[in-house]
Amino acid sequence: MAGTEQIEYLVIGDPVAHSRSPQMQNAAFEFYGMGSPYGKLRVDPAKIGEFAEYARTRLKGVNLTVPHKQVILPFVDELSPGAAACRSVNTLKIEKNRIFGFSTDGAGISGAVRENFGLELEDLHVVMLGAGGAATAIAFETAARHSASLTIANRTLEKARDLAGRVGSFAPGFALEVCALDDRETLGRALSRADLLIQVTSLGLKETDPAPMDLELLELNPKLRVFDAVYRETPLLRAARALGLPAADGREMLIWQGAASFEIWTGKPAPIEAMRAGFGRSG
Ligand code: ATR
Repeated sequence: MAGTEQIEYLVIGDPVAHSRSPQMQNAAFEFYGMGSPYGKLRVDPAKIGEFAEYARTRLKGVNLTVPHKQVILPFVDELSPGAAACRSVNTLKIEKNRIFGFSTDGAGISGAVRENFGLELEDLHVVMLGAGGAATAIAFETAARHSASLTIANRTLEKARDLAGRVGSFAPGFALEVCALDDRETLGRALSRADLLIQVTSLGLKETDPAPMDLELLELNPKLRVFDAVYRETPLLRAARALGLPAADGREMLIWQGAASFEIWTGKPAPIEAMRAGFGRSG
């Protein structure tokens, strides 16, 4: 954490070295002539309470990544309705020693789908692979944006059921379905009529990871768009592109969730082009 004395914003995680949030957020602050006040810090999840007390008196804003999005919850004074619904926080705003918690992952997926495919989530039939933290925010966003339906496919079926139950309570009447990742029949049926496939399991982070589902199922629907929240070219994206399907990685999701955080902190419109250029800078 260089230049600690001017740092007013931090991304915390464990690990956090790979995070591009500092270069992206500092590009936005620089755009408005506000210097480079954003740094990164590895925080041991067991020390999250100590960190919250430090943040309360010393910082203006924080982004949280794995594994802090849930463990921070007891230390937040006030949750936005979205963060309360999905029980996950990726943005803190600190004002007068009070900690406010938000989730901008939903804004991230909406922005990414708009930017990558020219679509709004409204009225889309969506299939999502995964039921973890990021998947939770995405599921609530599809409900809030009135997607036509959501199928949640997960390795652990019970977790998909639990998530569908929470989303169903939040949005009664929303068409929800769950299945296991290896349930070819249900997943195939859902993909045949889907407009959008969102992959948000952690598979694909490592080069050696297997694909999260049977890739032959992509052949069922020539109109499918494929979004992989992992920020790299995964076997799923390669297979989609080979079939000529529109396909995009997680880059725009990271940029749009960061843009929403910047707006929460500063009240200023996020300079998306500057943030995108900052994100792409090595550093
Ligand atoms: P994140 O915050 O990135 O969403 P997470 O909350 O740990 O991370 O969720 C990880 C997701 O990837 C889960 O859906 C998990 O499936 P389980 O609920 O069955 O654990 C999925 N996942 C992780 N490793 C996996 C693997 N080897 N095969 C299939 N799914 C996997």
